[in-house]
Order: sequence, then C-alpha cells, then structure tokens
Amino acid sequence: MIHRPLGRDSEEEVLRQMDGGVCQYIGAYLEGGKLEGGGTLIGSILASHDNRRGWINRLAVHPEHRHKEVGQALMKAAEVWLGSVGIRIFAVLVETWNEPSLAFFKDAGYLLHDDIVYFSKREGPEV
Ligand SMILES: CC(C)(COP(=O)(O)OP(=O)(O)OC[C@H]1O[C@@H](n2cnc3c(N)ncnc32)[C@H](O)[C@@H]1OP(=O)(O)O)[C@@H](O)C(=O)NCCC(=O)NCCS
Repeated sequence: MIHRPLGRDSEEEVLRQMDGGVCQYIGAYLEGGKLEGGGTLIGSILASHDNRRGWINRLAVHPEHRHKEVGQALMKAAEVWLGSVGIRIFAVLVETWNEPSLAFFKDAGYLLHDDIVYFSKREGPEV
C-alpha cells in the first residue's frame, strides 16, 4: 500500500473526501470508541463508493495487533456501512506482491480476478 501524504492521503484531501458523503473512514481502537474518548487507534479502513460499486481502501492494522481479527472487524464494519447506503458489490485493489493482503481478502471470501489489469491516469505522482 503506497502512502501519499502530499496527495490523496493529506489532511486537506481526506477532509475533502469525507465531505462528499461517498466515503467513510473507520477506526479500530484498543479502548474507548472515539479519538476524543482517548482510545488508541490500532487500525483503520476507508470505505468508498460511486453509487454502483463499493471499494475497500487503506486497510491497515498496527503490526503489534495483527492476527487478532482486527482487520476482519474493520472490513466487516466497512461492508456494513456500504450496505447501509445500498451497495451490494465490494471490491479492493491489492498489489500482487502483497501476499498477506492477498491471503486476507481470499480468506474473507473475496474472489480474485486475475484476468483484469489496472490502468490509471493521474495528474502527478502524489495524486
Ligand atoms: C492485511 C492486514 C490488514 C490484516 O490485518 P489483521 O488484523 O492481521 O487480519 P486478521 O487478524 O483479521 O486476519 C484475518 C485472516 O486473514 C488472513 N491473513 C491475515 N494476515 C495474513 C498473513 N500475513 N499471511 C497469511 N494470511 C493472513 C488469515 O486467514 C487471517 O486469519 P488467521 O489470523 O486466523 O490466520 C494487515 O496485515 C496489514 O495491516 N497489512 C499492512 C497494510 C496492507 O497491506 N493493507 C492492505 C492494503 S490492500
């Protein structure tokens, strides 16, 4: 997963994305339920949709808290949110070298489409 702190992962850009109503950031906390509540953030996920298909983005669990089903719980929460806005197809892009993520999504019931190639066009490397 490539982090783009000057581009789409910047604070300004994240706030813009959240404003549109088509994406939801969800956090997993060690205790407490909200950032204001003092819980320690140990994982996060970004669910987004285009009104047709739902996308799972930016799933990450702190290395010290992996293999405790935190990732699974985050993904379930993302799917529930997407379902609540009428989305019935969930998709994710995973780099072919990311073996743990490939295993994670396979085990979560996601079907691998190895006959699809990803194209993108972007304004710059940070976008
Ligand atoms: C992928 C990731 C989110 C999984 O989080 P997690 O909390 O450890 O996942 P869970 O404990 O819910 O795992 C559920 C199942 O997924 C599979 N899985 C998860 N990590 C795995 C790994 N490293 N190797 C093989 N299978 C794995 C297993 O079936 C696992 O069940 P098990 O622990 O009983 O074997 C975590 O490894 C991570 O943050 N990776 C770095 C960021 C990243 O690459 N994100 C994905 C971008 S697409």
